[in-house]
Amino acid sequence: MIPPGSPTVSRTSRDVVILGAGLIGLATALELANRGASVTVIERDRMLAAASTAAAGMLAADDPCNHDSLRGLSRLSIQRYPEFLHRIEHLSGLPIPFQTETTLQYMAGGPALRLQEHSIDPRQLASSLSAAIRATAIQVVEKTRVSAIEAKLSGNELRLEDGSCFSTGAILFATGAWTAETSNALVGKPLSVSPCKGQMLRVRISPPRSFQEVHRSERIYIVPRTHGPQAGTAVIGATVEEAGFDTTVCGRDLDGLRALAAALLPWLGSAEEAPMVESWAGLRPATPDLLPMLGAGLHRGHFIATGHYRNGILLAPATAIVMADLIEGKSPGVNLSDFSPLRFHSEP
Ligand code: GLY
Repeated sequence: MIPPGSPTVSRTSRDVVILGAGLIGLATALELANRGASVTVIERDRMLAAASTAAAGMLAADDPCNHDSLRGLSRLSIQRYPEFLHRIEHLSGLPIPFQTETTLQYMAGGPALRLQEHSIDPRQLASSLSAAIRATAIQVVEKTRVSAIEAKLSGNELRLEDGSCFSTGAILFATGAWTAETSNALVGKPLSVSPCKGQMLRVRISPPRSFQEVHRSERIYIVPRTHGPQAGTAVIGATVEEAGFDTTVCGRDLDGLRALAAALLPWLGSAEEAPMVESWAGLRPATPDLLPMLGAGLHRGHFIATGHYRNGILLAPATAIVMADLIEGKSPGVNLSDFSPLRFHSEP
């Protein structure tokens, strides 16, 4: 509740306020701005600092491990990816090349499938996207939390920690792994999204061992970087852990990832042949059924786009389109019934 008469630093009216400047939030901001909306994005940390830059960047629409329900949304995203990247590149002047064009998918007890599937470097995407956002009228407020949301006759009013206020027609929660705590703090209900930790490492690949395609099994993926600052290395991932918001990296787990990678490309088992360049851990936003939450929230003018789990990079363009449609009151061209944000919610 916003206390009446509390001091106000500034009072601004925006068509849409987006909570969360990860890839999902910023892709939707760009789509809405392109359709003429005035958009502000509020971020508790820095833009693109969490799952968006921890990911490997596979556009794995045809991964046989994917849930069937993701098919329509994945197809739309793959169709729209070139245009999505082109828009960002055009605004920023910074290229986001495809790193790979095929994936060898190893099947238990059978031959590997060769999939026509691209990957990108999420850090290149992040550099280009942040520059693109700065080239638009989208306002991004970093290192700031929303302290209250209040329903008004005309829409919603948000108050930030510094006392400034936004009145807005629509609020989009694109809060990734932080959705439960944010929705609990602001609307009194924790939406069922929890962090799922993934540890990864990047190794140097010397030229005689260079390869151009992703190697992937159900348990491990190896993604070569072929263009840009990370060219000549490969990302190996990832653990799947319930560890709360812990992002520490453990040498034993990295050794385990290397051993799984070596089952596909044996020389990756050797730290001399493939020395580690860096390691990190990211937090995937996971719902109980591991499907995204896309749709209207509990209150008028509230929308939710989160829970993309292992497919946030893949699903960003489609998510931006369907969420912009919903916020504009249009019916999206993809059936979202399996992704209702309220599917885990029962009235008290
Ligand atoms: N996006 C791949 C992973 O979650 O490990």
